Amino acid sequence: MQPDPLSYDIFNTNSPKTLPRNSIMSRYLITGGAGFIGANFVRYLLRKHGNEANILILDALTYAGNLENLSEELKHDNVEFIRGDIRDEKLIKRILDEFDPDFVVNFAAETHVDRSITGPQIFLETNILGTQNLLEACRCAWLIRHDENGKPIYRSGHRFLQISTDEVYGSLSRDYDTPRPLEVSDEVMAVAKNRTDLQTFGNGFFTENTPLAPRSPYSASKTSADLFTIAYGETYGLPVNITRCSNNYGPCQFPEKLIPLIINNILEGKKIPVYGKGENVRDWLYVDDHAKAIDMVLRNGRIGEIYNIGGFNEEQNITIVKTVIDIVRQIMDSEPAYRELLSHPVEDIDYSLITYVTDRPGHDMRYAIDPTKIATELGWYPETPFDEGIEKTVRWYLDNPGWVRRITSGDYRIYYDKMYSNR
Ligand code: NAD
Ligand code: TYD
Repeated sequence: MQPDPLSYDIFNTNSPKTLPRNSIMSRYLITGGAGFIGANFVRYLLRKHGNEANILILDALTYAGNLENLSEELKHDNVEFIRGDIRDEKLIKRILDEFDPDFVVNFAAETHVDRSITGPQIFLETNILGTQNLLEACRCAWLIRHDENGKPIYRSGHRFLQISTDEVYGSLSRDYDTPRPLEVSDEVMAVAKNRTDLQTFGNGFFTENTPLAPRSPYSASKTSADLFTIAYGETYGLPVNITRCSNNYGPCQFPEKLIPLIINNILEGKKIPVYGKGENVRDWLYVDDHAKAIDMVLRNGRIGEIYNIGGFNEEQNITIVKTVIDIVRQIMDSEPAYRELLSHPVEDIDYSLITYVTDRPGHDMRYAIDPTKIATELGWYPETPFDEGIEKTVRWYLDNPGWVRRITSGDYRIYYDKMYSNR
C-alpha cells in the first residue's frame, strides 16, 4: 500500500523515505511544487535526470496546491514532500541545513491577478516576504566566510532561482488589429528551427532590460520579489537567477486561469466569460518547454542573470477561446465516448457559449517576449507549436475528469460565483 503523502516528513525517522545523498546527484528544493508549473517541472526533472535528481518539494497546499499533481512523482524514492510555508523561518532554515539543496527553485506564490485585485495582502506576504525569507536562509546556509575585503564566500555549486513573470514589465501596446508575421533575427531563427508559425500584434517586445512597470497587485508583488532577489545578488553576492516567463498552459493548471476555465465551462455547459472585447494579447508558452528552460538556466545560466522565457505564440484572448471551443467540439464529434463528460448536448458547443463581461481593472493589453538572450546564450526555444500544445492540453483535461471534478467542487464554486456573478 502506498503511504499517505501528507505523512511524509524527512525530519521524521519513521519517514517512508529518506532521500539518499550521493555525489553525482543534484539536490533540488522545489517550493510551490504542488502547483501547476512546479509539478510539471518535477515531472520534467524525473524524465530528464531520473534518479540523478534528488527532489524535495515544499508546498503550503493553498487552494492552488494539489498533491494529486504529484501522485506518480511521489512514488519515486528520490522525491520527497513537505507541507510547509515559505514564510516559515525555522522550517526553511532547517531544510537548508539538513537537506542541503544545490538548487532552490522558488515557484511558491499567490498567482492569480483577479484574486490580487480583490485581496492584495496575501500577495505581499507570500510573494515578497516568503521570497525574502528563502533568500535569507540561502545566504546563511551557503556562506562559508568573508574574505579580507569583507566579500562573502559561498559554498560552490549552489543557486537560487526565482520564478518570475513577464508581467513585471507592465503592458505593451497592441499595434495591429490582425496579427502580422513576426520577424526574428537570424541568430534566433538558427536556434528556433522548427517554428514557422510566428506572429505578432505589435512592435514592442519585453527584453531583460525593459524597465519594470507592474500594474496589478500581483505583478507589483512579483516585481518586489525580483528586486529582493537582485538585491541579494548585488549586496551579498548570493548566486541567484531570475526567469521571467509568459503565460503558461498545459496539464494541471488550476481552472481559475483562462485556458482550463474555458475547457471546464464548455464541459459544464456554462458561458465563457471574456473580459472586455477579448482583444488582450498573451504570449502562450507550453509548460514543458518552460520546464526545460528552467533546467537549462539552473545548469548553464550565468550567475546573477535574468532570462526571459516566451512562447513565440502571441494570440488574442477571443481567438484562444474560439480555438478551444473548436477543439473540444472536434474531439466530441470524432470520439463520442468523451460526450459522457458533458452535462448538455454536444450541439451546444459553439461560439454562442461566449459572453463578454466587464473588463478586469487595469487589464494589461499585451505581453510579448523577445527570446534572444535565452536562445543565443543557452540554445533554448519554445519547441511546442500552439496547435500541438493546446490539443494535448485539452485532451489532458478530458482524460482527467476526476482531477477536474475534485478541484472544482467546494471552494472553487464559491470563488467562481463571487468573481463572475453579476459581472
Ligand atoms: P499555482 O498557483 O498553480 O501554484 C502555486 C503553488 O504555490 C501552489 O501549489 C501553492 O500551494 C503554493 N504556495 C502558495 N503560497 C505558498 C506558501 N506561502 N508557501 C509554500 N507554498 C505556497 O502557480 P503556477 O502557475 O504554477 O506558478 C508558479 C510560479 O510561476 C509563480 O511564482 C508564478 O508567479 C510564476 N508564473 C506563472 C505563470 C503562469 O502562466 N502560470 C506565468 C508567469 C509566472
Ligand atoms: P489569466 O489566465 O488570468 O492570466 P494573466 O492575467 O496572468 O495573463 O488571463 C489570461 C487572459 O485572459 C487575460 O487577458 C485575462 C483574460 N481572461 C478572460 O478574458 N476571462 C477569464 O475568465 C479569465 C480568467 C481571464
